[in-house]
Amino acid sequence: MKISSKNLLIDPFGRQINYLRLSVTDRCNFRCVYCMSEEMEFLPKPKVLTLEELYLIGKAFNELGVTKIRLTGGEPLVRNDIVSLAKKLSSLPDLFELVMTTNGALLQHMAIPLKEAGVKRLNISIDSLDRRSFRNLTRYGNLEQVENGINAALDAGFEKIKLNSVIMNGKNHTEVIDLVNFAREKEIDISFIEEMPLGNIETHKRKETLMTSAELRDLISFHYKLEPLGEPGKLDGPSRYYVMKDSSSKIGFISPHSNNFCHLCNRVRVTAEGRLLLCLGHENSIDLRAIIRDKSADFDDLKQAIVTGLTNKPLRHEFREDQEPTVLRFMNATGG
Ligand code: 5AD
Ligand code: SF4
Repeated sequence: MKISSKNLLIDPFGRQINYLRLSVTDRCNFRCVYCMSEEMEFLPKPKVLTLEELYLIGKAFNELGVTKIRLTGGEPLVRNDIVSLAKKLSSLPDLFELVMTTNGALLQHMAIPLKEAGVKRLNISIDSLDRRSFRNLTRYGNLEQVENGINAALDAGFEKIKLNSVIMNGKNHTEVIDLVNFAREKEIDISFIEEMPLGNIETHKRKETLMTSAELRDLISFHYKLEPLGEPGKLDGPSRYYVMKDSSSKIGFISPHSNNFCHLCNRVRVTAEGRLLLCLGHENSIDLRAIIRDKSADFDDLKQAIVTGLTNKPLRHEFREDQEPTVLRFMNATGG
């Protein structure tokens, strides 16, 4: 069957899917405590999509109406030749924007090539501005490298750079104001993300360290008056934003626990091994790699599998802070 018309990606709940988060590797140069366990086994190379396969998936989604692709990992910048993939994806005819989420460690040298390859915006994760605490949280991370990376990205002239922080009670909750001040100095936005129960981790009990967005807002409000910007729109992503009178930086809160945003969901994920994940909080997936590598299948079969897969998109995730994770894959295997 020939699949040609656009906007075929409407799920059973009427949500139009126009945003793909494409994981290009499950590997990372950090081991953030909330994301990975200390000993991680990564995918063997043959299981990981090749650059050509990643491009085909991007192209298929684009032809089906996806206008925004985010490259994620693991850490996308540890993938060989990521710049050439970015260049090809950003040239897709109907793509409005190619963006990336990164830990920033390799940006010092890659910011300019990425910008030139057509990456428009970057989300950079940073959970601490204290060298020791940063190292404890990331296990391998070097804060100075990340700060240099952020500066390089600012100099490279991306349309937008945003910071993301996961705050955990007892680990980095005392650093929230420093992070807000850092964003203010750089005149960029920052979003605080509630930790999600993805994968079993050994360093902390998530229900003990959960800092809700409401708690964080109260904490920040001691220092800065926060004015709400209103409910996020369909294209804004899950952050609920607040502004401060004396700064252009917006403060966002992503609240998978305390404020479910699933009704606005416009996205799906593809993991580095080619599994189409329909929801962050569910295990069900479709093996796109099997279709791409099946000699008897063609590009239209890939598109058809995506369209059919979407009929299984769940209504919402069911994260509960008082439960063990029901989703055993880690965030790096999920695609940021
Ligand atoms: N809960 C919330 N955020 C997470 N991230 C990684 N693992 C988790 C988790 N379990 C964040 C990273 C980064 C983005 C890719 O996802 O900090 O900002
Ligand atoms: Fe790497 Fe990002 Fe996971 Fe940290 S959160 S280990 S930087 S993939």
